[in-house]
Amino acid sequence: KGHGRGRSPRLRFHSVDANTDDAVTVPKHYDHRVVVRWGDPVTPDAPDFDFENQTAEAQEKQFGYNCDYVAFTEMGNRRGLLWVNHEYTNETLMFPGYTDGNEADLEQIKIAMAAHGGSIVELRRIWNSGAWRLVTWGWRYFNRRITVNTPMELSGPAAGDALLRTEADPDGVEVRGMLNNCAGGMTPWGTILTCEENFHQYFVGGEGAPEDAKPALSRYGVPTSGDTRSGNRRFDRVDERFDLSKHPNEANRFGYVVEVDPFNPHSKPRKRTMLGRFKHEGANVRLAKDRRVVVYMGDDERFDYIYKFVSDKKMRWGSRRTNEGLLDSGTLYVAKLTGNSPAEEFDGSGALPADGEFDGSGVWIPLCSDKESFVDGFTVAEVLVHTRLAADAVGATKMDRPEDMEASPVTGKVYCALTNNTARSPEQADEANPRANNKFGHILEIVEEGNDAAATDFGWSVPIVCGNPDDPSTYFAGYDKDKVVAISCPDNLTFDGDGNLWISTDGQPGTLDSNDALHAVPVEGKHRGEIKTFATVPQGAECCGPFITEDQKTVFIAPQHPGDGGSLDNPQSTWPDGKYYPRPSVVSIWHTRGRDVGHA
Ligand code: FEO
Ligand code: CA
Ligand code: CA
Ligand code: CA
Repeated sequence: KGHGRGRSPRLRFHSVDANTDDAVTVPKHYDHRVVVRWGDPVTPDAPDFDFENQTAEAQEKQFGYNCDYVAFTEMGNRRGLLWVNHEYTNETLMFPGYTDGNEADLEQIKIAMAAHGGSIVELRRIWNSGAWRLVTWGWRYFNRRITVNTPMELSGPAAGDALLRTEADPDGVEVRGMLNNCAGGMTPWGTILTCEENFHQYFVGGEGAPEDAKPALSRYGVPTSGDTRSGNRRFDRVDERFDLSKHPNEANRFGYVVEVDPFNPHSKPRKRTMLGRFKHEGANVRLAKDRRVVVYMGDDERFDYIYKFVSDKKMRWGSRRTNEGLLDSGTLYVAKLTGNSPAEEFDGSGALPADGEFDGSGVWIPLCSDKESFVDGFTVAEVLVHTRLAADAVGATKMDRPEDMEASPVTGKVYCALTNNTARSPEQADEANPRANNKFGHILEIVEEGNDAAATDFGWSVPIVCGNPDDPSTYFAGYDKDKVVAISCPDNLTFDGDGNLWISTDGQPGTLDSNDALHAVPVEGKHRGEIKTFATVPQGAECCGPFITEDQKTVFIAPQHPGDGGSLDNPQSTWPDGKYYPRPSVVSIWHTRGRDVGHA
């Protein structure tokens, strides 16, 4: 039988061989197509892409750079809306002769600002297949660009707090734009959660910020001494608010989960302060048994934390009024994990403990509710704006860069990609982060008590320790290592309808000498751990997305930063157009005989 919906799902597609090709490669019996590229028209009045004559005005109407999170909603059988995050810009591959932000033309800086943010575009299905094309004709009502200049509401308990007030926004309730949106999630009520990650890199002037603001700025990676301008994109040359010596609170207004309604092109995106401020990788929702909303979130930094939010109110199907306020009240928690094997069994080698498993128990430590802080010395707003400092104070578990977290729609178990942490010393190894100098990363599995997402206790294990299977420090849930592929630096997660876990990577070129990829692995039954490669991405790219459509006919991936590490004079990638400049793009992949993705 095929990979049915039984207890032992199996992925039967023919694994793609590891490679360093400047191409997207998919399994036998599958095909792929570039759906939308940097510069393609988004709004109906967008001009054609003209690499040699770029303008900010054009870029504001065109698809942005470096595609990361991808979400897709079908509207009937033939149409759909695609949401894509534009995490950041790679100016050396965008502008011939570019050196740095200090020397850049102001127009180049404005183009880069317009190439950040997000895009919503309409797609049409090609024939009756899993292939989709960008709609480039007609009115395209939903199509929208969100950039560094789009007005957004600051909502939730920290809105209006003194920490969020600036000269331009004395009430602390409205901020322009979002920065470095990495991964995200879709809510059951139809909105997109898009997550601000490495926002620290956009600010200068930290050396001139008030002394009492510097410790928190530093904890978030914002430079507060030395030459804060070198190597910076210098958005402050266009817009002074990015200079912290003049506007020290502006950095406090980035680093949030942003909720966008893709079906209302005139809606104002909302930064949800109740979900805390950190380097948000993603945000994925699972409903608790009583229909309260639970959001799982990773803070992608070495030795940072895993969080979850539990709403106060219950979701009501179809009630827009209830659902649009769900993320503004509730409780924010941070995870503490305790292993069940003796601590001395963890020397950083990655060797399994005597009980045969990296596993243990955990608690969700409450940091604050919308009304009350649970951390001594912090107000509610301080917990929500300086979340990392609050989590430090309660002794949360320092993880190996928590990226995407997502619950299986079949079992409810929650998975977290821990991408890597080469700074962990042998002394710092523990059962949840068992490998020192963790170049390859691992996967954490969390089972909430009573399988209720709102629980405050959980069990956990590490089903996969990544790397080349020849490496004794790797582990694939006990599966035969001769029958698995190498994987490194897990980043984004999704599930197919059978509950198999799909994992895309960001870092295989530097650790396995092969291009980044989308892998897939059963996490239940006797094939648990049998990991295969579904797709590989071009030279220099990480594999973002992935998104599997509800009908199981299409996988979308987003090869981000193709050609990274090269230059326009010495291109490492000419994907997808064969020109000397690469274009970050979204790709659809489908089975040529119309079978569900994952089948042979
Ligand atoms: Fe933008 Fe954590 O990857
Ligand atoms: Ca154990
Ligand atoms: Ca990521
Ligand atoms: Ca990453």
